[in-house]
Formats: sequence, C-alpha cells, structure tokens
Amino acid sequence: MTRKKRIAAIAAVGASALLLAACGSSSGNSTPSSGSSQGASGATGSAEVFSWWTSGSENAALQSLFDATKTAYPNLTLVNAAVAGGAGTNAQQVLATRLAGGDIPETWQTHPGGALGDYVKQGVVEDVTSLYTQNGWDKAVPKSLLDTITYDGKIYAVLTGVHRGNVWWYNKKVVDGAGVTVPANMTFAEFEGIAKQLQAKNITPLCLGDKDIWTAAMVVEETIVGEVGADGWKGLMDGSLKWSDPKVVQAISDAYTSLGWAQKDHKSQDWTGAVASLAQGKCAFNVMGDWAYGELVVKQKLVDGTDFGYTFLGDPNTFVTVSDAFVEGKGSKNPAGAIAFMSTIMDKTAQVNFAKLKGSSPFRTDVDPSSLGAYQQVAAKTLSSGVLVASLVHGQALVPAADSQAFADATTLLEAKGDAAAFAKAMDTAFATNK
Ligand code: GAL
Repeated sequence: MTRKKRIAAIAAVGASALLLAACGSSSGNSTPSSGSSQGASGATGSAEVFSWWTSGSENAALQSLFDATKTAYPNLTLVNAAVAGGAGTNAQQVLATRLAGGDIPETWQTHPGGALGDYVKQGVVEDVTSLYTQNGWDKAVPKSLLDTITYDGKIYAVLTGVHRGNVWWYNKKVVDGAGVTVPANMTFAEFEGIAKQLQAKNITPLCLGDKDIWTAAMVVEETIVGEVGADGWKGLMDGSLKWSDPKVVQAISDAYTSLGWAQKDHKSQDWTGAVASLAQGKCAFNVMGDWAYGELVVKQKLVDGTDFGYTFLGDPNTFVTVSDAFVEGKGSKNPAGAIAFMSTIMDKTAQVNFAKLKGSSPFRTDVDPSSLGAYQQVAAKTLSSGVLVASLVHGQALVPAADSQAFADATTLLEAKGDAAAFAKAMDTAFATNK
C-alpha cells in the first residue's frame, strides 16, 4: 500500500463521523455472553493485561477496568503486567522479547495505525471482527476510528478511548499571577511573547520531563502540526510535503526555541514529573497529550479551570489522535480471559469511568459524556467535529514504525545541536528509505 493510501484510511474523519454530542444516556452493560470463536462467558483462570500504565492516573484508570472485569467475570483473575515508562518505550521492547520467546500475554496495549499494523503483519494478534458484529459495537463506534484498527477488512482491537496529543496545559495561578493573558488558541509568536513576559517575572515558561525523548519529540510534533496545520501534517505523512519545506523547518526551529524555555532539571524528570512541576507552580506550560489532564486531576488533585487551563497552537479544531488499543494475543493460554477484558473495555459504563480517570474521550459514541470533566467535554466535541491527524511520536500515523524512531532520534540531535535543517533532512531521508 502506498503512503498516500495508508494515510487516506485515517485522514477521512469529519463532522459526520463522530456524534458524541448526540449520544444517548443509557449506561447499560454491553458485555457479551459470548465473544469471538472462543467466547468470554464463564471466563476463569488468570489472564495477563500488558500495558505501560503505571502513573497515578493511568494506574487508577486501568484499575477501574480491572474492577469492572471482576464484576462481570467473577471467576477470572486479571494479572497486571504493566511495564513502567511513558508512551510504552520500555514496554514495547519487553513485549517484543516476550513474543519472540512465545511468552504471550492474553492482551496488550498498543496504538492503532502503524503500531497495531506491525503486530497484524507479524501475525501475533487475533481477528476480533466477530465480537464487533455479535455485540453491535460496529454501530457504536465511528467508522473513521474503526478504520484505524481494521486491516484487510478485519478488526484487530478495541479502544479504551482517544487522547488529544496537541494541548498546551498551563498553571492558571502562575500565569494569572504574572498578569499574563493566555488566548484560547495562539500563534507561535504569541506563545513566544507569553514566554518572554513570564521570563521577565523570573518564571520558567516550560515544564518538560524529557528523561524519555518522546516528550521533547511531542513539543516538536505539536509545534509542527500547529504551524503547518492538519493538511500540512497529512502532507508530511503521505510524502506530498517535504520536511525540508521552509515552513516546516521554521516550526522545528520554533520547537527548539520552546525547548530552551524548560526548567533546569528537565532531563531528570519524566512526563509525570513535568506535570507535577506544573501543578506545583515551578514552571508555567506543559505540552502534552490529555493523559496529563488525568494526571492533573487524579494524581495532583487540581481543579480544571481554577488551577489549570489549556490552549492550542494554531487551529483549535485540529486534534492529534493518540488512541489506546487492546488486542487479543494469538496463542495465549487464556483467550477467553482476553475477550472478557476487551468486552469490559467496550462496556458503556466502563468506558466513561475509565475516561474520567484517564483524560481521554470515549471510543463509543453512544455513551453519555455529561459526567466527564469540562476540558473533556470540549475535547470530545472537537473529536466529533474537528479534523483529526495521527501522532507520529506515538506510532499512530500510518507510516512504518522506523519513521517514528527517526523522529525520536532527530529530536535527540536537535536538542544536542539545535540544527532544524538537519532534523528536516534526517526525516526526509527516513521517509524516503523506510517502506
Ligand atoms: C501514550 C498513551 C497514553 C499515555 C501516554 C503516557 O502512548 O497513549 O495513554 O499512557 O502514552 O504514558
């Protein structure tokens, strides 16, 4: 499949696709009495759930799914096999070793698009299409998102929800205290102006935790998306726009400028440390997906709108998707256990309870979002009516995984040398080489 065709599968998202606002209010349990070929009814024994959700809010959200599974399948024991490390950098390596050794978790976390596509190609995940048709899930989720987990007409995962990657969170008290006004969305020049005003008051503009490079890579990705727009980002992914285009190089250079506004100890913190620094008022802004919302609310106990706010770079209707998928591992010891967990994920009540703790928007569009936080209501609306583009940093863009790795490597070089043109050149080479 050409890059263009692969991108087209994910790019076709519009207002009609997602109808969260119009959803019903029933919170009935959709857990099936039997699942795919193996079925989940009467699931017993133990089943491993492999993920990278270990932060305060991530663990709480995962636990909510464990609790819901226990209620629906009392004879099944789920084993939490999470491997620490934001964005799954460590977990994905551990999983690859386990799969190579035939030590297969019943179910594991991945991202739709390129990352899931790799598992499908390797033949290590089960086709779960029958679960969708038997339970009517295919009618409860937007086709555009279904397309991101469908390969050759077969569906391979369920989604816990969809995160928005491109959010500029800020500590409201710090910013207000400095007399700085943050608009609902901004240009880079406006952000630079804000950063300078903060610096003049001895406030560190950026909270960064780039012990793991993906967080700095997100600053670059979200700045590029903000400056070149959704169409520009799609063009980069399908090869019709070069990374070396002057406007892309300018965005990379602006991202580098932003990275220079970070607190001194940024290399010794991870993403949760950066969120904690923001909550403690040690710095003002954090560029992060809305799993940071979960962390701000659940772990840091902050109040949306009072303690923290958010803004966007560029068009506020551009939504960078970072969805979380769970798959059924082929050849695991307890397939019914995997199906039980995946069926619970698709339960309406479980979807909403999970989203409240995690910060994401639900995958199902027939749930009642009214109990979600204020930010989440806005995110869910943008998910339903905005323009979606897939995150390269999180392996969701429909390009080879090697391109995401190249982006991380280019970010490491950018931090070291500050050469935006070299970043662009490395990405053009990667996109021309990786097929
Ligand atoms: C992403 C994932 C989110 C969150 C984040 C930080 O890859 O989609 O759910 O876990 O990493 O760990």
